[in-house]
Amino acid sequence: MILEFETLKKEIQQFNSSDANEIEKFRIRYLGKNGLLVRLFDEFKLIPSEEKKIYGQKLNTLKTLATDKYNLLRTTSDTKSVVRSSFDPSLPSMPLKTGAKHPVSIIRKEIIDIFYKIGFTISEGPEIEDDWHNFSGLNFEPDHPARDMQDTFFIQTDPELLLRTHTSSVQVRVMKSEKPPIRKIFPGRVFRNEAISSRAHCIFHQVEGLYIDRNVSFSDLKQTLLFFAKEMFGENTEIRLRPSFFPFTEPSAEMDVSCTICGGKGCNVCKYTGFVEILGCGMVDPNVLESSNISSKDFTGFAFGMGIERTAMLKYQINDLRLYFENDIRFLKQFTSVI
Ligand code: PHE
Repeated sequence: MILEFETLKKEIQQFNSSDANEIEKFRIRYLGKNGLLVRLFDEFKLIPSEEKKIYGQKLNTLKTLATDKYNLLRTTSDTKSVVRSSFDPSLPSMPLKTGAKHPVSIIRKEIIDIFYKIGFTISEGPEIEDDWHNFSGLNFEPDHPARDMQDTFFIQTDPELLLRTHTSSVQVRVMKSEKPPIRKIFPGRVFRNEAISSRAHCIFHQVEGLYIDRNVSFSDLKQTLLFFAKEMFGENTEIRLRPSFFPFTEPSAEMDVSCTICGGKGCNVCKYTGFVEILGCGMVDPNVLESSNISSKDFTGFAFGMGIERTAMLKYQINDLRLYFENDIRFLKQFTSVI
């Protein structure tokens, strides 16, 4: 028996071929279902137990030897060229699954591009803010309801840290660190402690605008926003400014654009008014300028803040805010953009 092992070992070691048929014959002879190794494994049962150990070891060595040899020859043999020749380089490739831009990214970029055309550059601020930048520096009275736990995610008390509730916090940072003229937009993510529904979410995105210079007037604000609305929603878009209140602007307004769904005729998106609200704006309150060390005698300015999801909803006629955050590929792949 041991003799047979030695002969087989030599045979296997000496075998060499690059011919696919020969290699297949080798496989059948040693490793096939009725091959020599299977036969030897069958005989293993009949071996007296004191010889089993040595017999088993030799058998395993032989099997490894044959398997390795077979694998080696197979990878270097003609079989490879058979596989290679069946490869047709003229066949079209498998279609690649491409990603799509998220609608929030598309609209964010569009807003940035529109304001870039009229001289606005970008700054960004932190998402974790202190009370001063989010509230006090913006003229919020100490007991203003927006500081309430209901709206703000406070994350630390002493010193007080919170998740910014609006990008207006970046106004304060920029006014503190830069001198007028300032003509900037601040895109970013904001957080409010609101119940999630089709019209509200606890995370959303805003783009803030700030323009401070000598003799900036409300009509500058109006023309800037009209330009934006026409660029974003089309040449025939109309805007409407309604008086409103924000602690950091005076006078303040909310801007509506003519409904993109019905073109102003009236539908359930615009609640049959023909207009949809898209942003808050106003002239920067002198208190805000002064608390950032900008002279309110020499300078005036305007500010505005718009929701990106809201703008995208109007542009793409999406009626549920939650869709933006679910990352359902069937929703996302509908948006294409060349950017
Ligand atoms: N920060 C306000 C909001 O989040 C929007 C705004 C920005 C209003 C700038 C006026 C000026 O609702």
